[in-house]
Amino acid sequence: MADKKATLHIEGKAPIELPIIEGSEGQDVIDVRKLGASGFFTFDPGFLATASCESQITYIDGDKGILLHRGFPIDQLANNADYLEVCYVLLYGEVPTRAEYEQFRTTVTRHTMVHEQIASFFHGFRRDAHPMAIMCGVVGALSAFYHDSLDINNDLHREITAFRLLSKMPTLAAMCHKYTTGQPFIYPRNDLDYAENFLHMMFATPCEEYEVSPIVSRAMDKIFTLHADHEQNASTSTVRLAGSSGANPFACIAAGIASLWGPAHGGANEACLKMLEEIGCVENIPEFIERAKDKDDPFHLMGFGHRVYKNYDPRATVMREACHEVLDELKIDNPLLDVAMELERIALSDEYFVSKKLYPNVDFYSGIILKAIGIPVSMFTVIFAMSRVIGWIAHWNEMHSDPTNRIGRPRQLYTGYSQREFKPLHERE
Ligand code: SDX
Repeated sequence: MADKKATLHIEGKAPIELPIIEGSEGQDVIDVRKLGASGFFTFDPGFLATASCESQITYIDGDKGILLHRGFPIDQLANNADYLEVCYVLLYGEVPTRAEYEQFRTTVTRHTMVHEQIASFFHGFRRDAHPMAIMCGVVGALSAFYHDSLDINNDLHREITAFRLLSKMPTLAAMCHKYTTGQPFIYPRNDLDYAENFLHMMFATPCEEYEVSPIVSRAMDKIFTLHADHEQNASTSTVRLAGSSGANPFACIAAGIASLWGPAHGGANEACLKMLEEIGCVENIPEFIERAKDKDDPFHLMGFGHRVYKNYDPRATVMREACHEVLDELKIDNPLLDVAMELERIALSDEYFVSKKLYPNVDFYSGIILKAIGIPVSMFTVIFAMSRVIGWIAHWNEMHSDPTNRIGRPRQLYTGYSQREFKPLHERE
């Protein structure tokens, strides 16, 4: 329990004592839950200095460029575990035994098919619909298919829901791609691992065997891991807030997908690649750097900057290595990588970016790898959503496992009209 206190001295008011609660890592927090009784709210649009919850899943130190999942550093996980093992760690908090890991893998593998009627939802979309628009729709529609396990206060129901979402997201994601290309949906295969199965469903056709490249599937699996969870980011906070009302878990995940879609968040990987394509060549970079600095120009360098990381995003370090591995192995001479590397070099030496600590983030390199693998740009954020679903589920589950959990209901600073009389129209004429 907290024994340190903060004392608030407000003119004309008695001092207000607020408990300080210590974390195991990072900043301690001032518990302001009782501040309302003293006639004040805190004011923090964008939550720059506000902890919305207590969590034990992920810890980020933005100044030191540290990212831990249940205490394990992200580079150790990315280089020594596959995505499903990382999912186990995020969900259960500890590393699995071999038997536990095999059981987890088998359960995920055996739930990858979706209800055949789900396929008909796709046919309501135009073929040129953005895959994220389709994902918002079909993931939300899962709410209508699983009435047998929706008691959010039942641990087993929450675990079944976790497996269903983790298992079916790759299938639904690949179906989005197949639908927009006009190719038939490809069923999952139980003899392939998670990343191989996704690539198989994305690129196989009924006409011929599709050989999954081990280099590509390893890079894909690493991308899944590097996007798995990231503390209380915008989409995870959306899932928590939606879930706090007791909403259906599939609807909560659909809300997370919608929030992730924004270019300031998960949509940045797609926006980053479009930016690199717009820059086109190294000679054009200075013009875009100047635009990024121009306060009157809304242009931001996509893939740079982060609310928390004021140091290099540790995921970008791992992603950069994977990026070069894939391009070297696949012998892809991607001119966009030349632009990306030169942009990174300039941005890391330019006073504006250095002073504002705008380093490349996870989205900067993921877009180049996905393009090299042959994933369409419009699918980049879908892959981010697939990867992040385990983080959303882990946080949703952690929230519902907390008996003190209550509905999220922020207050506001009101600056509108004070009370005034309303005159009916005939009196106003
Ligand atoms: C993700 O929260 C998470 O954890 C997210 C994420 C996850 O895993 O869930 O890590 C994934 O969303 C990564 C971020 C992807 N977004 C982008 O790459 C889009 C480009 N980046 C920015 O739009 C911006 O950096 C944000 C949105 C990421 C962060 O915005 P903040 O924290 O609100 O910072 P800010 O916009 O207030 O920027 C601070 C200053 C501003 O200048 P001043 O007003 O102080 O003069 O830096 C400038 C900004 O103008 N700035 C940029 C910039 N990012 C910030 N200037 C040019 N290019 C940029 N990319």
